[in-house]
Amino acid sequence: MGNVAVIGSQWGDEGKGKIVDWLSSRADVVVRFQGGHNAGHTLVIGDVEYKLHLLPSGIVREGKLSVIGNGVVVDPWALLKEIGTVTEKGVKVTPESLKVAENVNLILPVHQKLDAALEAARGNSKIGTTGRGIGPAYEDKVARRGIRLCDLAHPDLLKEKVTNLLLHHNALLKGLGAEEVSVDDLYNELIAITPKILPFAAPVWKILDEAHHDGKKILFEGAQGLMLDVDHGTYPFVTSSNTVSGNAAAGSGVGPKTVGYVLGITKAYTTRVGTGPFPTELFDDIGETLGRRGHEFGTTTGRKRRCGWFDAVMVRQAVKVGGIDGLALTKLDVLDGLDEIKVCVGYDWNGQKLNYYPASQVAQAEVTPIYETMQGWSESTRGARSWADLPPAAIKYVKRLEELVGSPVTLLSTSPERDDTILVQDPFFS
Ligand code: GDP
Ligand code: IMO
Ligand code: MG
Repeated sequence: MGNVAVIGSQWGDEGKGKIVDWLSSRADVVVRFQGGHNAGHTLVIGDVEYKLHLLPSGIVREGKLSVIGNGVVVDPWALLKEIGTVTEKGVKVTPESLKVAENVNLILPVHQKLDAALEAARGNSKIGTTGRGIGPAYEDKVARRGIRLCDLAHPDLLKEKVTNLLLHHNALLKGLGAEEVSVDDLYNELIAITPKILPFAAPVWKILDEAHHDGKKILFEGAQGLMLDVDHGTYPFVTSSNTVSGNAAAGSGVGPKTVGYVLGITKAYTTRVGTGPFPTELFDDIGETLGRRGHEFGTTTGRKRRCGWFDAVMVRQAVKVGGIDGLALTKLDVLDGLDEIKVCVGYDWNGQKLNYYPASQVAQAEVTPIYETMQGWSESTRGARSWADLPPAAIKYVKRLEELVGSPVTLLSTSPERDDTILVQDPFFS
């Protein structure tokens, strides 16, 4: 029995939160390894809905250890606010139940200011970021001027680092016509938050190593999706981290063999929030219907998600690049009642047939999908808890997707509710 990593195989919002919550009953530790509070993971347990941004989705189950790995960028104010929100719903979060990597890089208010100013400066080529400061914080990390959680324990060093950081950013903010940030203000804000946030700091790599050696089961929770990966996605319309399963190791401090089975969370159609290419996007009534029935509004920003048909070429690519062993197919119920369902099986690029999604920004914008049309079903699949409850046409659709993307469906989700899930093969025993 090994560990499991959950990653999104499209443009995010595939239903990772629901699946991680469901799987977490079988795990001992749940670890976030990349992204930040740009993520929005929804869990529905009976009448209670949780929208988690930074906290791992295992947090709602008592007795599980929640870990925020070094690959995440953490806004300490947002984290404390989220702890407050879940506490109000009866979830207990303590420095015993939540460990944040001491070497994690922090998102600061200046990063959000920069995110907004840079987006404004992009004019018509905006990325449509979540505005959470993710990109600027990762830039600072790679540029080696970031402030890490462990720096809060050393006020003199912190002052020096804040001074250096703002020397750089104030020049940029000034150039962008935005207001500059005062060293004293930022330093004082950090000092004020230190007693509340520092108790969560821990050598996460060591905790995970010990857990693994003790035979505990670790569930790695990815954020965003493969097409938002900074290398493999629709660059530059991507997030600023690697969303592939390989990053579960680097982003939490374990070796690649510890990651285990990779489960690709995959929506039965496609959605995207923000700008960037989207070959199978629908601009008609069907697109509107998918959005309405699937409640396709961003969990973090509330923006309307763009909707389209399932793109088997893209998911097949995600299976390869992401090292996906099996799929958790979600939101099949949203397709109930459609006469016909289309699936993209290839692209046409100015008369040339492509069986993969090219890297060029120009090609990505120009390809048009080649569709295969399948028969829909009139019966409801919502809430189905066994294959026997699914109409034959729905089973045929799932089987065809498996064939096209080259990966088996090991879990099937038929509503937002935790238990409306069909288990085909347990990823922890694969
Ligand atoms: P994540 O970012 O991948 O965790 O996904 P989000 O939570 O942002 O968006 C997925 C949405 O779909 C949430 O509102 C979920 O409650 C909902 N959801 C998840 N699985 C299903 C499903 O099988 N059917 C339906 N109808 N909704 C689902
Ligand atoms: P979850 O984990 C969907 C998108 C933004 C934007 C791009 C860059 O809930 O699936 P960023 O703020 O990261 O610099 O924005 O990435 N994006 C997401 N889209 N789901 C997410 O997370 C996303 N996180 C970022 O909309 O297009
Ligand atoms: Mg989401």
